[in-house]
Amino acid sequence: MPAPGGARAVARCDMLGVSPYTDMKDGLYRGWLSPAYRAAQEVVTGWMEEAGMTTRRDAATNLIGRYEGLNPGPALLIGSHIDSVRDGGRYDGPLGVMLGVECVATLHAATRRMPFPIEVIAFGDEEGSRFPAAMLTSRAAAGTLAEMPDMADAQGTPLALALASFGTAPERLADARHAPALAYLEAHIEQGPALETEGLALGVVTGIAAQLRLRLVLEGRAGHAGTTAMPLRRDALAAAAEIVLEVERVGRDRPDELVATVGTLEVEPGAANVIPGRVTLSLDIRALDPALRDLAAQAILDEADAIAARRLVTIRTLPIHDLPASPCDPRLTRILTEALIAAGHPPRRLASGAGHDAMAMAALCPTAMLFVRCRGGLSHNPAEHVEVVDVEAALAVMLGFIDRLEAVHV
Ligand code: GLV
Ligand code: MN
Ligand code: MN
Repeated sequence: MPAPGGARAVARCDMLGVSPYTDMKDGLYRGWLSPAYRAAQEVVTGWMEEAGMTTRRDAATNLIGRYEGLNPGPALLIGSHIDSVRDGGRYDGPLGVMLGVECVATLHAATRRMPFPIEVIAFGDEEGSRFPAAMLTSRAAAGTLAEMPDMADAQGTPLALALASFGTAPERLADARHAPALAYLEAHIEQGPALETEGLALGVVTGIAAQLRLRLVLEGRAGHAGTTAMPLRRDALAAAAEIVLEVERVGRDRPDELVATVGTLEVEPGAANVIPGRVTLSLDIRALDPALRDLAAQAILDEADAIAARRLVTIRTLPIHDLPASPCDPRLTRILTEALIAAGHPPRRLASGAGHDAMAMAALCPTAMLFVRCRGGLSHNPAEHVEVVDVEAALAVMLGFIDRLEAVHV
């Protein structure tokens, strides 16, 4: 049966898609620790409190709403992220947070307490769209953030300064380690076309692909574009162009198992009349099978070395993150599938190529994920869209999951 809080969850995501919750003039961009991020945290805090939760912000800036249980033991965590990519959609991340708020609001309206507390978490940097790192805040909550590299955003703002304005510091992020938890549940738009193609509203996630993300810095030699003869050039952008095509070739070799992407390219000095002297590019490689991902990464890096050597360009490889594949917990997945079936949906299971905070949280507790159909499978795009009726269905299944967790909870 649909749950009406789904409509409010969608309306709130829509509200978060416009000023002051975006850092971009004609579109949505909410970078971690930005003014829009602060504004979003403030309004979400109010929604959490209205739903019956007490709120706090942990040392990694995650916003956490808590709904006490009949017993004080480990909590059920429900979460996702409130940062966004540049010119992104409204539902990637916030939908999972809003659905968590609606789960608690439904229980609160029925004056119902579960035997366990429920915490709804709005994570900060799942996308990694501001600083050259991603999922720092969920990794901090999961207790796996070992060291905190020094980093700055594209404007040169140091992470330490951005964190200071939220009352914390890089060396304090690890203090966000969450207490042991019962389970972590995340609802998210599918970001792919499988559910829509099959005419299904919802699917249960079996696991999340392993991700490797690197930065490659190519150093050639800047020079005059009018006077430097072609054979004498050490053009870092021309080398980068060959590498981009090699990345695509390696991904295309195994289209069912692997994806490989260059998503950013910074060209310096960046002038029409100067041969590019330095290029920094991002490399993102994913596969459900981590061995295959690593083989592909090695093949790309070997070929990049060869391209650079041929062009007398040097190449440096800097790590961004290496996230292992994250299978969802079989027991929780079974409970979520039962809730799906009980709500009248076919038990569709599917893997996730997109990364999610769930893959970081898997280090803390068992995880489960529910996918919601999105129009055209489109995401990381302002045209991202979900139907209210699908979100209502998702809420009903999440509430069914919570009920079933109560039944098996000891
Ligand atoms: C996040 O959206 C990712 O999969 O990179
Ligand atoms: Mn997301
Ligand atoms: Mn995303």
